[in-house]
Amino acid sequence: MSENPPRYASWTQGKLPLPELGEMKRRGEKIVMVTAYDAPSARLADAAGIDLILVGDSSGMVVHGRASTVPVTMDEIVFMTQWVSRGARRPIVVGDLPFGSYEVSDEQAIGSALRMVKEAGCEAVKLEGGRPASVSRARAIIGHVGLTPQTSTVLGGFKAQGRRSDEARQLVQDARELEAAGCFAIVLEAVPAPVAELVTGRLSVPTIGIGAGAGTDGQVLVWHDMLGLYEGRAPRFVKRYANVAGVITEALGRYADEVRSGAFPEEQHAYAMPEEEREALEALALELRG
Ligand code: KIV
Repeated sequence: MSENPPRYASWTQGKLPLPELGEMKRRGEKIVMVTAYDAPSARLADAAGIDLILVGDSSGMVVHGRASTVPVTMDEIVFMTQWVSRGARRPIVVGDLPFGSYEVSDEQAIGSALRMVKEAGCEAVKLEGGRPASVSRARAIIGHVGLTPQTSTVLGGFKAQGRRSDEARQLVQDARELEAAGCFAIVLEAVPAPVAELVTGRLSVPTIGIGAGAGTDGQVLVWHDMLGLYEGRAPRFVKRYANVAGVITEALGRYADEVRSGAFPEEQHAYAMPEEEREALEALALELRG
């Protein structure tokens, strides 16, 4: 018996093939990607026709309440990727290699990527940075350039990259090196739209933008950002398609009020007993009282 049957079942049920993304770029069809971190969310993304689900290390911030993505571990990403893989039938699932899991050597990077595919059940992995020697033998990898949150301290914080032409040149070079190393797609985060367009036009593999304008081959947004799953300000590039935090807070508030007032639970939410057992119970209550 397989440890992860739903994931294997999905192989025979119309998983989007990786090379299809390149075909989409050639046909000029936009690629849609979103992050997700558990099985129910993956099922919803699948039902909505999303092409790729990224189990991002953004989970460290939006799910686990950390101040940055740096402390996220391989074990965490593997665990969440297993859940997402169980929920995603058609979308390609991409596991995000966290900080410290691929930088030391080719062997470390390949080992982490293999663990993701073998243990976590994803179809592809993503890593941040422009010139990782570590991707030299891997083909199911998405590169990530521009704002790379794992190294945001070096980049001067969470801010747009490639705003100067020399930086733009470097971005093009980084993206081309990733393509030459075998990456099948490149995420461009927080770069000016004209720079993202330039990079997109110089690559044969698709680019997926987040805060990179409309000229990339696809878009990705973080689940909690786009669904409004938290109060407070989202990054500039986020469009909020829902206010789920508001819906949840309102529902929880009503629940708390109804518990306190006694309006919940009602009879329909409770289990009944056969009449004779009820009588026996009343007898038991009398007995216990005395
Ligand atoms: O970790 C993440 O969610 C990401 C996206 C922002 C692309 O890397």
